[in-house]
Amino acid sequence: MHLFTRDGLLKVAVLSLTSSSYGRLLTIPSTPFEEASTGEKLPLNSVRKVIVGKRFASTVNKNGRTLIPQHSPNSPKLLREIFNPLLVAMLLWNMATKPKKGSIFLTIDSDTKFSDVAGRPSSEEYSLSVTKEGITIAGASPLGTWWGTRSVLQAAAVGDNKIPYGTGVDSPGWGTRGVMHSEEFGNNVYHGFRLPSDNPALADLSSPANESYTRAVFDDIQEKCAARGVTVFPELETPGHALAITQWKPQLALDHDISMLNLSHPETLPAVQSIWETFLPWFYSDTVHIGADEYDSGFIDVYIDFVNNMYKFMSAQSPPRKMFSWGTFPREPGQTDINKDVTIQHWTGGMDNALPDYLNKGFNMVNSDDAFYIVGKSAVNSYPRSLNLTRAFAGNPAGGAYAPNIFDSRDATNNPPRDHPGVLGHIAAQWNDLGPNATTVSEAYYAWRDALPGLADKQWGGDLTLEEYEGVFDMIHAAIPAQNLDRNIPSRSDTVAHYKFDSHPKNLGKINDYSGNVYHATLYGCSISNSEVKFDGNCYIETPLQSKGRNYTLSFSIKPTSDKSGALVTGRDSILTTGNGDSKQVILSTGGEAYSVDYSFPVGSWTEVSLIGAGTQTFLTVKSEGGEASTTEIQTILGLLANGLKPAVIAIEAPFGTIGRGFEGYMKDVVLKQTASIYSVNNDNEWMKT
Ligand SMILES: *[C@@H]1O[C@H](CO)[C@@H](O)[C@H](O)[C@H]1NC(C)=O
Ligand SMILES: *[C@@H]1O[C@H](CO)[C@@H](O)[C@H](O)[C@H]1NC(C)=O
Ligand SMILES: *[C@@H]1O[C@H](CO)[C@@H](O)[C@H](O)[C@H]1NC(C)=O
Ligand SMILES: *[C@@H]1O[C@H](CO)[C@@H](O)[C@H](O)[C@H]1NC(C)=O
Ligand SMILES: *[C@@H]1O[C@H](CO)[C@@H](O)[C@H](O)[C@H]1NC(C)=O
Repeated sequence: MHLFTRDGLLKVAVLSLTSSSYGRLLTIPSTPFEEASTGEKLPLNSVRKVIVGKRFASTVNKNGRTLIPQHSPNSPKLLREIFNPLLVAMLLWNMATKPKKGSIFLTIDSDTKFSDVAGRPSSEEYSLSVTKEGITIAGASPLGTWWGTRSVLQAAAVGDNKIPYGTGVDSPGWGTRGVMHSEEFGNNVYHGFRLPSDNPALADLSSPANESYTRAVFDDIQEKCAARGVTVFPELETPGHALAITQWKPQLALDHDISMLNLSHPETLPAVQSIWETFLPWFYSDTVHIGADEYDSGFIDVYIDFVNNMYKFMSAQSPPRKMFSWGTFPREPGQTDINKDVTIQHWTGGMDNALPDYLNKGFNMVNSDDAFYIVGKSAVNSYPRSLNLTRAFAGNPAGGAYAPNIFDSRDATNNPPRDHPGVLGHIAAQWNDLGPNATTVSEAYYAWRDALPGLADKQWGGDLTLEEYEGVFDMIHAAIPAQNLDRNIPSRSDTVAHYKFDSHPKNLGKINDYSGNVYHATLYGCSISNSEVKFDGNCYIETPLQSKGRNYTLSFSIKPTSDKSGALVTGRDSILTTGNGDSKQVILSTGGEAYSVDYSFPVGSWTEVSLIGAGTQTFLTVKSEGGEASTTEIQTILGLLANGLKPAVIAIEAPFGTIGRGFEGYMKDVVLKQTASIYSVNNDNEWMKT
């Protein structure tokens, strides 16, 4: 039996300071790894099989946070999805007991007692061994093995598809590592209850169907996450920020603040518990979060009773649920406090001082200090819109990188030691205040995109430097399997697709793509003559693509024959329309929200159009026949209570799936480019790239 502690691993990591390729693999998070002295490497293209060990296939992790019993990559479908980018060769679902030459062998190590930074047992560790025969990943549980597969894929991505021979043991320092997405509910701002129910007792609680998750969708999210080692913890916020509930039952609100529940009202606790009773079966996590932050400080005693009542309620469920509650109203010694088995989620030094208020009293804590809060566009002067990478790598006031034990970014004396057993981990939070009116789905993603993996290195206990991180980020990001949130489209040149509509009778129905990328489109019912497509309001063209993310220029010329509103281009993330109902303004919409431009296309004459995505901004350039080009930024309107309404940037993907469905008129020369070209007009009335 071996005992691996994080301290032992850190000694390994120190060696790496002399050589970046020795002591660990430059993955995100970093992977402790001793290279074999021969310096030889295993080319991953010599690995032909993934062998699922018998032990691995039959072991179910019972120590994880998810109640879904599977969190191993133990289906051929998932294995294919996660390994295919590297293992283009054959993949074998094979219940073996030992590795074979040229394979990745996935197994379980139930003999080694792995532990985390505080010496707590953990099921997430794995050992990795790379020899000329192949790769063995042995996890403390299927989840540990899964993390090992991530390291292997990343090491190959940064190592020119080769992994050095050697061995390593990797373990997260803390078991709770994550992100949180939320909407902050204040008076009269965008709010909602996102889960629907048939329970008549909850009639009128939920948001409309188009603004809530169905059970099937919510199940799918949780299952997909669980299969990748991620557990979804729900938070239903009460008794503050409870507008969704007080609008359902106004009698439960505090007289002087309708965003807060009146905890002295006899119907309040039953109402909150009936909501949880209805939705607990939806949640496949061992832990739920009751919120409980920013309540009225005139009612501390009833607040403490409320949290304790909720704790009793959660403990009595089947299965019993553990509970998170935000650090709020810490008590003095001798005062009635909340139950020590409630995990306290810290968010600001203004609400609690972790050591004296909770840790020293025996509470467990999860750190969500607002040093890493990000907020959409509503917070103009407070929290940033995107995660602060510098802080992840230099956020310890005692010097060095941030870590889950840093509750106070300014005063190191307030922070517990790294191995304090009460510190369970770190969760970074994103608050989507003002909802879709302020932030598109992809903007919420971009707020994390470049920096979250860096913070994840620190949440895990990795030791990458900022320079190392920046050196490997692009390579690893590009190798993430089975997702394309950047909406990137492979292209040989700047031109992604170019339809000239000069199709010959022989290939009627096929629209040739002149970009060289072979993204040929298909005509459904429209007629073409003189390289112009005639749209009749029903016919359309389908491309083999869907959506192009940052950056892009989508250009075409159109001549509407009526002022009927219709879709010009539709994709999975957005739709460009010539209007909506009586409004003839050009609109770019993202499913729910419609961002309009104060412009309508003239009927009966040609207009050259470019929709441009440039970083965080979106533009529309139009040039009518003989006229000048003019560029307008497409913006959103933020409804800020105190500051009134103000325009703000919005970044929207180019729609590029279906062309013309609903539109009446002609279109020609459709070009999608992967750079942003914003044109203005010079003195000679010529277009100029700016
Ligand atoms: C809370 O509800 C109780 C019982 O209905 C009521 O007496 C009290 O005035 C309410 N308090 C506030 C602050 O709204
Ligand atoms: C990011 O964090 C660093 C270190 O804490 C700080 O100096 C800097 O001002 C922060 N940047 C932003 C944009 O908040
Ligand atoms: C959902 O439907 C309601 C009512 O039809 C509408 O007001 C709202 O804008 C829609 N929301 C979204 C996100 O589509
Ligand atoms: C996209 O355009 C913005 C602004 O024009 C620029 O800052 C950014 O680097 C560009 N991004 C890419 C991926 O080209
Ligand atoms: C956003 O909110 C404001 C005020 O509530 C509203 O006028 C505007 O139309 C909304 N939508 C967009 C896309 O700006």
